[in-house]
This record gives sequence, C-alpha cells and structure tokens, in this order.
Amino acid sequence: MAEWFVDIARRHGGFDVTLIDLKEVDLPLLTEPVHPRLQQYTHEKTKAWSATVASHDAFVFVTPEYNYSSPPALVNALDHVYVEWNYKAAGFVSYGGVSGGTRSVQMTKQTLGALKMVPLAEAVHVPFFAQLMEAGKFKGGETQQKAATAMLDELVRWTNALKALRTPR
Ligand SMILES: Cc1cc2nc3c(=O)[nH]c(=O)nc-3n(C[C@H](O)[C@H](O)[C@H](O)COP(=O)(O)O)c2cc1C
Repeated sequence: MAEWFVDIARRHGGFDVTLIDLKEVDLPLLTEPVHPRLQQYTHEKTKAWSATVASHDAFVFVTPEYNYSSPPALVNALDHVYVEWNYKAAGFVSYGGVSGGTRSVQMTKQTLGALKMVPLAEAVHVPFFAQLMEAGKFKGGETQQKAATAMLDELVRWTNALKALRTPR
C-alpha cells in the first residue's frame, strides 16, 4: 500500500517523496536512557532515525490497525525522537477490516499531539483492503486516489504554514 501511495505522491508533485519502511529502519524497543527531548542518543540506530525524521518536513503514515489500536512498531518509531517531529504535519493512509484502520489512526493522533505535530483531517481509509489486493500489491481505485490527492493538497498547505514554527529559534 505504501508503494501505491508513494506513486500518487510523486505524481502529485508537492513534495520530494521518500519511502521509509519501518521494517528496514529496524528500531529496537526504546531503551534510550533519557527522554528523547534532550536528544542525547546513545544508539546508532536512534541517531540514524533522528537524522531521517529531521530531514523531512511532513509525513504520511501508512498503517494497519492492531487490536483496535496503533501498531506497536509505529508507536515505537514515534517515541524514539521528539524535537525532530515538532511542528510537522502528518496524514494517514490506513487499512484494515471493517474499520479501515480508523481506530489506529485515532489512537496515533493522540501521540502526534504530544509530539507537537498536526494530524490532518483528510485521509485515505481502506476497509477490507484484501479485496483490493492484486498479485500481492494494493490496487486503489478512483475513490482512494481522490482521497490521497485531497490529503496531499492539505499537507502542502499545512507544511507551508508551519514553516515559521520549524525555523530554529
Ligand atoms: C496482532 C494483530 C491485531 C490485529 N488487529 C486488527 C484490528 O484490530 N483491526 C483490523 O482491521 N485488523 C486487524 N488485524 C489485521 C491486520 O489489518 C492485517 O493483518 C494487516 O495485514 C496488517 O498489516 P501489516 O501486515 O502491514 O502489519 C490485526 C493483525 C494482527 C497481526
């Protein structure tokens, strides 16, 4: 599903798009000794993740739902750094069964608030996503494409508006 969205985002043209796969980032469960706010990272993987998050102005989280909630890998990745997320807007592409991953998104939005991020109202939610899989790849239709474009348009607006806050003081 991430590949499907990245293709749309690249064609949208509002951003230079990077696909970040948390499986490849491979963060361990958080074991940094001090709060991420202090940025005193001790692990190389945290330092690399800090640099990755810092180098992007906006995010779209492509996420499933685990037990009506956010998947632990996403929460762990969010928890690892703090300042690097601040004042950045974020959209969601979520998928699942009947819920379309919406409960996961609602739970994650609470964490984004703590990180001083701005979660967008516009989103792509895909219920019963398995029905839209073809040869192991997600094939979204016009409805999902329109939703993705609407979200990206808003993401551009919020990312521009938040630029002043992201400027180091
Ligand atoms: C531990 C676990 C809990 C799940 N809970 C939900 C759920 O609450 N709602 C839902 O729609 N799907 C749920 N699913 C199904 C996932 O949507 C499905 O397995 C999906 O493929 C997970 O995406 P991933 O393979 O990218 O992690 C759950 C799957 C797992 C493994």
